[in-house]
Amino acid sequence: MTFTLARRAHKMNPSVIREILKITERPNMISFAGGLPSPETFPVQAMQEACARVLSQDGQAALQYAASEGYGPLRDWVAQELTSQGMHVGADQVLITTGSQQGLDLVAKVLVDAGSRVLVETPTYLGALQAFAPMEPRIEGVASDDEGVLPEALERQAEGARLAYLLPNFQNPTGRSMSASRRIRVTQTAAEKGLPLIEDNPYGDLWFDQAPPPALAARYPEGTVYLGSFSKILAPGLRLGYVVAPRTLYPKLLQAKQAADLHSPSFNQRVVAEVLKEGFIQRHIPTIRSRYRLQCQAMLGALEKAYGHTGDGGDDCLSWNRPMGGMFVWARLPAGLKAMDLLPIAVEQGVAFVPGSAFFAENPDPRSLRLSFVTPGLAEIESGVAALARSLEIARNRA
Ligand SMILES: Cc1ncc(COP(=O)(O)O)c(C=O)c1O
Repeated sequence: MTFTLARRAHKMNPSVIREILKITERPNMISFAGGLPSPETFPVQAMQEACARVLSQDGQAALQYAASEGYGPLRDWVAQELTSQGMHVGADQVLITTGSQQGLDLVAKVLVDAGSRVLVETPTYLGALQAFAPMEPRIEGVASDDEGVLPEALERQAEGARLAYLLPNFQNPTGRSMSASRRIRVTQTAAEKGLPLIEDNPYGDLWFDQAPPPALAARYPEGTVYLGSFSKILAPGLRLGYVVAPRTLYPKLLQAKQAADLHSPSFNQRVVAEVLKEGFIQRHIPTIRSRYRLQCQAMLGALEKAYGHTGDGGDDCLSWNRPMGGMFVWARLPAGLKAMDLLPIAVEQGVAFVPGSAFFAENPDPRSLRLSFVTPGLAEIESGVAALARSLEIARNRA
């Protein structure tokens, strides 16, 4: 049988990362590739106890179909938590989603037509490009520096664009963050131009020494759709995230959600609401932060040891940034080398990473690569960086 595919299906592509993750399943491979949170941070015992309480106190309701908006106490928690961080959110604006990835899919369905101009950072989160692509938009990269999009570039491109998709905190893939002043400029520009912002913030809680400045949604609530996730602060296998939408847009997102999956798993939502009771998250998140801070320091320290500088290697040496939180370091190969060509050599040496070109909407930088420091342990990070350095030497000698 030959199936005639819909036009949008032709726009769907396999995720390069998911393909690379298959390599990392080989024994003894040290993976800087996946964005997988450290399993050591998963609160297994708290989950176990919460599951038992939910089943004994509320078992039948927890296993029944439920409201598409999400479980009330969980929506309340999200609204209170975000309000305590400087946003003004009512629980009626919170839509619980099946991961924030579903939030991206719903936003794309509701806001993007074929041919719509969608603005993204350079580089940006690959999963967002995948979510937008089936809507057949024209995705445009906005010039960005180590603080995110340049306001002048955003201003030039804003006219007539449907939305700008932005990651202000410890961005995937680069680990960079937007300064407070950049946030002001970006939200002012968006408000002046009437440009909707999609603010994706799965990493904001994972800061090392200092909480990031308030969300874009705190400055521009009427025009910002905010996406959050429980994947990085509890566990990704729960598949729970949320969208906070201006009240004018909420009903359409809700209708898209109903069509997509009726509702996110009600059992998981109740378990998470139960786990979050009595300040659990305030005790739990600091443990993740200190673990990731140590792992990041281990990676930066190993890179310094291997290359003899703190990040800026010029054109002849590996360069890297120094993230203040999140899960990723962004690196750049010496001139003349390509990350895609380095990958098979690195895999032979026992280490994997993601070539950065996958994260660009246009004009990919073939020298860039993403290194995740959260999945391997400290000793593995050190030997993984040494293996990376060996593979770079081999690649240089071959070039
Ligand atoms: C920037 C960004 N947005 C969204 C997601 C999706 O997260 P989830 O669907 O697990 O909430 C990820 C996952 O890595 C991400 O990095």
